[in-house]
Amino acid sequence: MGLAFKEETFRDDYTYRNSLDAIRRFPFPFPEDKYMYSVNIEPHVKGKPGSVLEFPLDIDEHYVSECRDKAITLARDPGRYASLPHMMDAQWDVLELIMESLSRDYPEQFKLTKDGNRWTWQNLPLGIENTFTFGDRSSLPMEPFEYVGRQIQGDWVILDQREGTLFADAGIVTSQADWSLAFDVGMSWHQWHAPVPRATEIGVMDRALKFMMNLQLGEPVRRLNWTMTLNPRLDTSPENYPLWGPDRNHITLDNAGDRVHLRVELQTLFRLPRSNGIVFSIRCYLISLNELATYPRWAKRFHRILKDLHPDLLEYKGLTKFHATAVEWLSRYDDGAPLDIGT
Ligand code: HEM
Repeated sequence: MGLAFKEETFRDDYTYRNSLDAIRRFPFPFPEDKYMYSVNIEPHVKGKPGSVLEFPLDIDEHYVSECRDKAITLARDPGRYASLPHMMDAQWDVLELIMESLSRDYPEQFKLTKDGNRWTWQNLPLGIENTFTFGDRSSLPMEPFEYVGRQIQGDWVILDQREGTLFADAGIVTSQADWSLAFDVGMSWHQWHAPVPRATEIGVMDRALKFMMNLQLGEPVRRLNWTMTLNPRLDTSPENYPLWGPDRNHITLDNAGDRVHLRVELQTLFRLPRSNGIVFSIRCYLISLNELATYPRWAKRFHRILKDLHPDLLEYKGLTKFHATAVEWLSRYDDGAPLDIGT
C-alpha cells in the first residue's frame, strides 16, 4: 500500500491539513441527529479497504509528523510516559501487538524478523532499526512500551485487571483531550472516569466496565468518542492549558472554518496474552470545519448535534466559549430537511 507522509506541524504555525483522501476516510462519528453518551462498543472487525477500520491499527498520511510531535511533547514533559513496575509483562505484550500488526498490514513501511527471541525491528518511515531480545529490557534503548509507543499514532494506556476492576497502570499520552496521565496513573476505572458528567447516572460506566472485564483474547472491541479542538493541536493536556486554553476567546465567524476542529477518537481495546491486561488505544483524527463541509451532509448533521448538545457535555468538553459561533457557522449547511445518511 502506498502511503505518502506529510511534513506538517501540530503547534506554532499549525500546518496540519487533511488531503481529500484523508477527508474521505475521516471517521465521522454521528449516526443520528442527536448525541448522548452510550455503551457504543462493537467488535473491532475489519472494515472497508482504505477506511480507518481496514486494519486493527491505522497508519495514515500524518504518521511521521505525529510521531515527531509526540517526541517533542515527551522531551518537554517526560511524565507523559509512565509505567508502574508490575507492568513489564504487559509492556512486552503491547510491543508484540504493535510490531506484529504494523509489519503484517504495512509491510512496505515496517519489518519484523524473528530468530527465536532475537527480534529485528525496522521502521522505515522513522529510520529506526533495532535488534533486541524479546523479554529482556536491557536489549532496548528504553522500556519496551515507550519504545513502541513513540512509533505509533495516538495515545496508549495499559490496564491491569484485579480486584474486580481495571487500573490504568501504564500509559504514553501526548495527544489527550484535557486529561492527565500523571494524575490518572494507578487509578481505577471509576476513579479516572469520575469527572465525566451524566454517564455514571445513566449507568454507562458500570455496563461498560462489565463489558471490558470480559474482553477476550483475539476479540478486540472499539468505540468512537469525540470533542472539539481549536487549531490542529494534539497536545491539549491540562499541564499545557495556558498554551491552548486562551484560543477559546478568539473564535469568530471569519476564522471558525479554519480554526475549529472536530476531534474524533477511535478507541480500541485488546486483551493481552501474557499479562491478562488490556491495552486501550486512543487514535485521534482532526478535521477543520472547512474540511468537514467538503461533505455538506456532515456539516448539516454536526450542526444539529452541536445545537442541541446537553449543557453538561458542552461544559465538560470545554465548548462553551465558542459554541454559539460554531453553531452559527454550521447553520448555513442546515436547510432543516430530514437527513437519513447514517453517517
Ligand atoms: C472519558 C479513560 C474506556 C466512556 C475518559 C477520560 C479518561 C478515560 C482518562 C477523561 C476523564 C477526565 O475528564 O478526566 C479511559 C480508559 C479506558 C476507557 C483508560 C480503557 C478501558 C471507556 C469505555 C467507555 C468510556 C469502554 C464506554 C462507554 C467514556 C466517556 C468519557 C470518557 C463517555 C467522556 C468523554 C467526552 O465527553 O469527551 N475516559 N476510558 N471509556 N470515557 Fe473512558
